[in-house]
Amino acid sequence: MRPVIIAANWKMNTTPADAGELAATIAARTEEPEVVRVICPPYVCLAAVRDALAGTNVAVGAQNVHHEAAGAYTGEISAAALAGLATWVILGHSERRRDALESDELIGKKLARAVSSGLRPILCVGEMLAEREAGRAVEVVAAQLHGALAGKDIETLLSAGFVIAYEPVWAIGTGRTASAADAAAMAEAIRATLSADLRWGAAAEQVPVLYGGSVTSANIGEFLAEHSIDGGLVGGASLKPDEMAGMVARAAITARARAEATGKSA
Ligand code: PGA
Repeated sequence: MRPVIIAANWKMNTTPADAGELAATIAARTEEPEVVRVICPPYVCLAAVRDALAGTNVAVGAQNVHHEAAGAYTGEISAAALAGLATWVILGHSERRRDALESDELIGKKLARAVSSGLRPILCVGEMLAEREAGRAVEVVAAQLHGALAGKDIETLLSAGFVIAYEPVWAIGTGRTASAADAAAMAEAIRATLSADLRWGAAAEQVPVLYGGSVTSANIGEFLAEHSIDGGLVGGASLKPDEMAGMVARAAITARARAEATGKSA
């Protein structure tokens, strides 16, 4: 049974002065033990968020990590520097692909670094609008998966709790979402790529696939109604405690239904 995950990507919002209070408020308003909750604030807010979340079971994630262990990389943050601050990391977000020109190959190196450092990775993939309109969405996402995952050890990724987030670029921060059916079809295509092309076989079924792109408490139910979708990577709405409460409450319904279905079939 795959977990149901709500991951908050705060992007370049909050400061060390206000992030802890926001995280504590969200934790208190989303107490659903069946749902895996993660908050990913900016680097400089990690310590405040970690302290605010102590004693809760909300995890802390970083939004990026450098692929090298240490060295002359001005302005970058190593995996070692995140130890004790974060246990998850978002990799390959489309805003970093766009603004920092991160390639699939580089993202693959970051993934290797994250996993060897004990960080649980969320690998983001997704097509641009023109690519979807040209009927190339699956091909583009498959190429991103190949670029980041080729040659990686499947067992190592699985034991690191590897997660994929499907985030169509045209849906991020735009108020537009993919249809639930399209998102579910992509989640299936992602697992098919892992299973066949990348030779993961049945292990592909163990990988949680989240949907991201203008997720809110009002629309998350459509995505969570799809068996192939295991939660959301949420940007804008994740800064609002009411929205987080609504999304996690809806996620708990799916998590409980899955647990019940597994119990019945066992
Ligand atoms: P959004 O961002 O929810 O604001 O669209 C999602 C993301 O970029 O992870």
